[in-house]
Amino acid sequence: MNNPIIRTEHAAKTYTVGEITTSALKDVSLEILQGSFTCIVGPSGHGKSTLMHLIGGLDRPSSGKIYIGDTEISTIVNSDLARLRGQRIGFVFQFFNLLQGLTARENIEIAMMLAGVAEPEQRERAEKLLALVGLAEKAGSKPGQLSGGQQQRVAIARALANDPDILLLDEPTGNLDSVAEAEILNLLQALHRQGKTVVIVTHSDEVAKRAERIIRVKDGLIAA
Ligand SMILES: Nc1ncnc2c1ncn2[C@@H]1O[C@H](COP(=O)(O)OP(=O)(O)OP(=O)(O)O)[C@@H](O)[C@H]1O
Ligand SMILES: [Mg+2]
Repeated sequence: MNNPIIRTEHAAKTYTVGEITTSALKDVSLEILQGSFTCIVGPSGHGKSTLMHLIGGLDRPSSGKIYIGDTEISTIVNSDLARLRGQRIGFVFQFFNLLQGLTARENIEIAMMLAGVAEPEQRERAEKLLALVGLAEKAGSKPGQLSGGQQQRVAIARALANDPDILLLDEPTGNLDSVAEAEILNLLQALHRQGKTVVIVTHSDEVAKRAERIIRVKDGLIAA
């Protein structure tokens, strides 16, 4: 239970756009324990999303190492990384990333389709997950027909599609009022109690208050 499930060693990420180079993440070494509930906080533009993308295997570090369990994901081939991500990590993006042409249910099903789940099971599980986030009656709605908070909940349901043991959420309550935020937080705490490792990037004090541990990111580094 108390093993590190996520580990970074001197992780750094540099982006180059034209002639401008940005050191989004400079030198981050951290461990996140299995089954823990962690919040990442810090000012805008200081590297929080970058760190989440590296931990989630959505992007690779420019230098340094990232481990999920015993697997070093910074160097494994794309196909292995995609499989590991599909099996172990649920990601909720800062801006939802729902497919606009698909319904709420289809957005969840597609995550299972990519993991090879059979169709009847996809549908049954997508409906269960929508019920879990309180949106059973919106299964047939497209993202454009849902409120920001409802889209956020669909994104969480999608992240849970393949029953990952790690849940990474980038500002999951950024667009929600305090009632909707509390509902999402209760859901995340319930998932944490079931044993999932939860990591949330947030600007919300309410969210940070519930965390077992707070990691502060400042200027691409972990601040004390
Ligand atoms: N794909 C990219 N290409 C170029 N620069 C990028 C890219 N992604 C992020 N950056 C830059 O890296 C830095 C860190 O960005 P990041 O998105 O990690 O910040 P953040 O802490 O998540 O901010 P916020 O709280 O506003 O979401 C910023 O200066 C940003 O402009
Ligand atoms: Mg961000």
